Amino acid sequence: MKIIITKDYNSVSLEAGKIIADEVEKNPRAVLGLATGSSPIGIYRYLIACHKEGLSFASVTTANLDEYVGIPAEHNQSYRYFMKDNLFSHIDIKQENIHFPDGSATDLDAECARYSAFLSKTPRSIQLLGIGANGHIGFNEPGTPFDTETHTVDLKESTIRDNARFFSSENEVPRRAVTMGIKNILQAKRIILVATDTKKAQAIANMMKGDISPECPASALRLHDDVYIIIDKSAASLL
Ligand code: F6R
Repeated sequence: MKIIITKDYNSVSLEAGKIIADEVEKNPRAVLGLATGSSPIGIYRYLIACHKEGLSFASVTTANLDEYVGIPAEHNQSYRYFMKDNLFSHIDIKQENIHFPDGSATDLDAECARYSAFLSKTPRSIQLLGIGANGHIGFNEPGTPFDTETHTVDLKESTIRDNARFFSSENEVPRRAVTMGIKNILQAKRIILVATDTKKAQAIANMMKGDISPECPASALRLHDDVYIIIDKSAASLL
């Protein structure tokens, strides 16, 4: 694991954004595994700025980590909507190159199998991750075996509470999601995990120094040989 500790959210975004932009520059057909949430927004702003300076995403393919079950793609809290709003509508990516697990599929088991098969035949150059305060990556909550592929999950109360900030009330937060599994995440050639704030400090410490165990899903990243952990001083405060 390469660990980069910087001063704040903006510098974390810059460090991670540069690695992704360099990859797209060197390899215009890069496949990017992307995340939603607060952590990557600054990275997406940086990539949009790179696009304004001439970086093209026209041949890039993306595969998002996860999607809620039970809210349509056009709902303003769907992860598809988030990605459109924060990145895709500001760059020249082609619609057909954007991929998500479909949380509205009628047969969710078949959808999970389809997405895992897609991920296996479309190797990601980089997988971007945030981390939950409980150590989750994607929606792989504590206790998820490391060999799990795309699957549906019942979200933990703590995750529902954390995500309630994006909804008008906690009751509106979907209770289920479809997520890439840890096995799918580890298939990426390179992984970048970003985190800021003291509320992530315990999860970062568990990930880096605790046991490699499903109790801290992010600890699985220690089994991968090309991982960047890019965090601010507050998230690093328990290391
Ligand atoms: C998002 C995702 C989640 C978040 C994590 C951190 O697609 O899969 O694992 O990365 O919950 O969220 P933020 O960045 O909002 O603190």
